[in-house]
Amino acid sequence: MALLKIIKAGAPVLKGTAQPVDHITKHTKRILDDMAETMYNAEGVGLAGPQVDLPEQIIVLDDGNGLIELINPIILEESPELEKGVEGCLSIPGYYGTVIRHKKVKVKALDRHGKTVIYEPEGFLARIFQHEIDHLYGHLFIEKADNLRKVEE
Ligand code: NI
Repeated sequence: MALLKIIKAGAPVLKGTAQPVDHITKHTKRILDDMAETMYNAEGVGLAGPQVDLPEQIIVLDDGNGLIELINPIILEESPELEKGVEGCLSIPGYYGTVIRHKKVKVKALDRHGKTVIYEPEGFLARIFQHEIDHLYGHLFIEKADNLRKVEE
């Protein structure tokens, strides 16, 4: 496995729309492994393809309860209930802000074997799903954040 370079805000790849993965290959699995390693190394809770200069619909995330891999994720349902919470982003190091998200979402995706998987995360995990899926459409949390602030590390 290998650590990938995390692209910082301002780069065009973070503003673009990521393409669906047509065929899951050995390369896709390698990318998933490298993205997970990169996310854990950076102590992040999620990482999307564009953040490693790969404009494809690939996400890894882990809220502390285990790695989740998403290929071509689609949000099927969003709860009407909203929730405020603090977010940061590995592409915008040191900045945090409060973002309103749906409390629950229902997401369909493919796993690394090409099998359809359905997730129905709530709370913090649902927040990570929404934040990462936003990356696939060129959106960063700072566009939606209130009380954006820089924290010295
Ligand atoms: Ni992010």
